Amino acid sequence: MDEGGSRIRRRVSFRKRNRTSLESILAVPSTAELKPGNEEEEEEVEAGSRRRKTVGLLPVEHQDSEEDMFGDYDGFTENSFLAQVDDLEQKYMQLPEDSKHATDLVTEDLCSESIKNIKFNITTVDSFTELKTDEHINCQSGHQDVTIQPGADILYDVPSSQVLFYENLQNSSNDLGNWSTKEKELPHNCIEQPQQSDETSSKIRTSPDVNRRKSLKDHLKSAMTGNAKAQTPMFSRTKQLKETLLSEEINAAKKTIESSSGDLGPFYSLPSKVRDIYARFKGIEKLYEWQHTCLTLKSVQERKNLIYSLPTSGGKTLVAEILMLQELLCRRKDVLMILPYVAIVQEKISGLSSFGIELGFFVEEYAGSKGRFPPIKRREKKSLYIATIEKGHSLVNSLIETGRISSLGLVVVDELHMIGEGSRGAILEMTLAKILYTSKTTHIIGMSATLNNVEDLQEFLQAEYYTSQFRPVELKEYLKINDAIYEVDSRAENGITFSRLLNYKYSETLKKMDPDHLVALVTEVIPNYSCLVFCPTKKNCENVAEMICKFLSKEYPKHREKEKYEVLKNLKNISSGNLCPVLKRTIPFGVAYHHSGLTNDERKLLEEAYSSGVLCLFTCTSTLAAGVNLPARRVILRAPYVAKEFLKRNQYKQMIGRAGRAGIDSVGESILILQEKDKQQVLELISSPLENCYSHLIQEFTKGIQTLFLSLIGLKIATNLGDIYNFMSGTFFGVQQKMLLKEKSLWEITVESLRYLTEKGLLQKDTVSKSEEEFQHNFHITKLGRASFKGTIDLAYCDILYRDLKKGLEGLILESLLHLIYLTTPYDMVAHCDPDWMIYFRQFSQLSLAEQNVAALVGVPESFIWKKASGQAIKKKVDKDIVNRLYLSFVLYTLLKETNIWSVSEKFNMPRGYIQNLLTGAASFSSCVLHFCEELEEFWVYRALLLELTKKLTYCVKAELIPLMEVTGVLEGRAKQLYSAGYKSLKHLANANPEVLIRTIDHLSRRQAKQIVSSAKEIISGAT
Ligand SMILES: Nc1ncnc2c1ncn2[C@@H]1O[C@H](COP(=O)(O)OP(=O)(O)OP(=O)(O)O)[C@@H](O)[C@H]1O
Ligand SMILES: [Mg+2]
Repeated sequence: MDEGGSRIRRRVSFRKRNRTSLESILAVPSTAELKPGNEEEEEEVEAGSRRRKTVGLLPVEHQDSEEDMFGDYDGFTENSFLAQVDDLEQKYMQLPEDSKHATDLVTEDLCSESIKNIKFNITTVDSFTELKTDEHINCQSGHQDVTIQPGADILYDVPSSQVLFYENLQNSSNDLGNWSTKEKELPHNCIEQPQQSDETSSKIRTSPDVNRRKSLKDHLKSAMTGNAKAQTPMFSRTKQLKETLLSEEINAAKKTIESSSGDLGPFYSLPSKVRDIYARFKGIEKLYEWQHTCLTLKSVQERKNLIYSLPTSGGKTLVAEILMLQELLCRRKDVLMILPYVAIVQEKISGLSSFGIELGFFVEEYAGSKGRFPPIKRREKKSLYIATIEKGHSLVNSLIETGRISSLGLVVVDELHMIGEGSRGAILEMTLAKILYTSKTTHIIGMSATLNNVEDLQEFLQAEYYTSQFRPVELKEYLKINDAIYEVDSRAENGITFSRLLNYKYSETLKKMDPDHLVALVTEVIPNYSCLVFCPTKKNCENVAEMICKFLSKEYPKHREKEKYEVLKNLKNISSGNLCPVLKRTIPFGVAYHHSGLTNDERKLLEEAYSSGVLCLFTCTSTLAAGVNLPARRVILRAPYVAKEFLKRNQYKQMIGRAGRAGIDSVGESILILQEKDKQQVLELISSPLENCYSHLIQEFTKGIQTLFLSLIGLKIATNLGDIYNFMSGTFFGVQQKMLLKEKSLWEITVESLRYLTEKGLLQKDTVSKSEEEFQHNFHITKLGRASFKGTIDLAYCDILYRDLKKGLEGLILESLLHLIYLTTPYDMVAHCDPDWMIYFRQFSQLSLAEQNVAALVGVPESFIWKKASGQAIKKKVDKDIVNRLYLSFVLYTLLKETNIWSVSEKFNMPRGYIQNLLTGAASFSSCVLHFCEELEEFWVYRALLLELTKKLTYCVKAELIPLMEVTGVLEGRAKQLYSAGYKSLKHLANANPEVLIRTIDHLSRRQAKQIVSSAKEIISGAT
């Protein structure tokens, strides 16, 4: 390779880079984007990622979505504030090291002009071709070698989920050889190698097939080599020459792409290792025909935005994953994948980590308390961010704010129909609209099983559409009326044909207890196959589970008896010795309920037991359908209702779609139980088209358009009326405006909303010169506006929050945490709170005098609580929201003192899942209030207080356990186990031997033990 030429190219594009013009030139992927060793150009002058972590960041965060997991909107949200709490702490400590780092960075940047010599080892394993890339970094002569040792920076950078895989690689001895060989499979920048660029030293064993199909890297390498040789080997500083070089490079790259399109790599432009991983980890040997067709669509190859829609279980994920890998590996760009719920993000993280390790990219979690804003700039490898809707939005905001949005090459949205669902839909819409507006090179892909009005979405996303009716496992739909079962059949006159009569002997008692024949229906399937029974309410789930178990034969408890016993034992362990009496009775039969009343730990444990077949029946609420992948042979809908609402076609489709998963079942069936009275409506339900999805940007006023405008101006995406109007025209709402809001034009809506925000003191209009047209009027964000925006405070509450905090300044009671907790109790949980007045009074009476004063100070007199408890009439008006908020503060206060969800749940007679949601919601809101206060000088006093409170709410356990709980995968129960086994600090854990851990700690798998140790190491290495 011509080092001089390569160096010139890098310098040229590095310094001359003009974002817009270059991007527009590169609309077709060019060598500049595809060249393997070209990452630094994207990253500009950049800090070492490790040091970045110590710099104070301005998180732009949102509340998260775990509560939706269980539907009832009874929970609040999680937030990724922990990383920021650390950052803030560091910021306040004003590390003197920062300045030292700055000098280090300069050295590193000089070295980033290093030349990479890429060696390819292509070995053929059976029919699979494996492509291994060894990249050796040499710095230019005259510069010091940059050597990063494995285990130091690199392990720091690697998310802990991936550290585990590195360790596995290190430990496995079969085909990987010794550690020194394995090091070569580690990320490129972590290997110290002698300077050499001897291509002939590469071991190349190729099959004829491999020779025919050169990999992408081969193509590019040769193209780049030739390209480099063609250029002047002398370094020139003249602007003209640099530009010539740049344009030559681009032309050469374009030619390379054109000449090699369609044959870039053995597996959809990817190394055949990818195919190997799919076969090994997922059991996928061959793509479905539609998947192949979709991946080879002209529009996909041309990188047009794409929406695709297939029935549930159709295999949509695989297509998205291949496209994401292409982006990460071939185009060398970051990728964002947006998924609807925290649990699904976590599932996807563990599913894709192996790809990240084997193929050399980062998999980063943006859900729950995870995620950093803006993300760390990586020097070499690309990142795949997997995010919830809210975290995805915050991530995009932070990338726009730091001018890095074009580093995102691809955004994938799963369950795109969610764009039409409430405030979360509005957030998704804002995210996509912002990407469309700010980055022309970011490719967008959306998928869904339940889309109807695709044209609107196509127009919004400027996307092509692909659809197919393919489903690998046939799904048979049935309806049950009395004891007759009908098959749904679109060819029949009324949409159904008689199938069979239920054949099960019912005693008189059973008939009374189980008029819907649920026992008959489930026993046709369980225990050998799994079954889901969707129930309208949470209480109903528990009742149905108990009822079914009452009538199951004595043979059921014998099925996998030992494992079920283990499940019960584990449930008890994770809940400090507590066990729900319903689960205690049902689990021996292999049955459990699944709804938001469960704690997260319980839910995860039950899901694992269900997935492995130890449990065979879940009675669940509708939201399980949208949650993690819990398939079943048979899905039963106990009634065509969700709570009191009649089922929607989309909900019905999602629920029955759980039946019959590829690779697990050979058939799938759904049975909807209905009464005669609902028959007509059900017949319409099964035959009607899917519901349309509509924009919620305007409907969710404070969480929609207002928040959008504030952030547009705050992030300087659009600051004058004309630009904001243009932005609005490009939204999903803009597409549907005439249909959704006939009486007003988009212009009027825009003007009104801006006026509203101005009147609220969140925006200010710049002084206007007379000559200026209305559409040129510029706006800027006020301090209050910025605080609300930075704190992601729902604009419905920003006034109240400001008032409450201001009032707090006059007399904050700091004798206990109660007053502070009150100030961070989430406003939007208050409306659903229904205090038990006896409990309220009892709790109040137990408070100290100073604590009771908090009640009086916020506006809840003792007499009010007392009168309520004793059922007396109350004349004086007291603000119900304040009363309810104080009640929730009592719950949180008790929880912080006792740190036991179960005992608090009993004390306040509230479900433990609800209490857990309240806690995560309060922790999240506390972090938001902290960011709010950071922007407003008058609230400086709150900052230190809220920082501590946020930590306390986040961990809500005894102080000594807090450090242990920072370790990935360690929750309260596990932390207690570790602590009492002598692992009292992070250092203890980092130095622990996983094998000893397994022996000392009950119910700890080898995988978990290794993850705990590597995560502890990671935290420690980050702190030093
Ligand atoms: N080509 C294939 N061969 C075998 N199995 C496959 C193939 N493609 C996907 N699968 C498997 O099919 C199952 C369902 O796929 P996937 O989760 O992608 O469905 P989906 O279309 O996203 O459905 P939903 O709308 O319910 O989310 C998964 O277990 C996946 O591993
Ligand atoms: Mg899917």
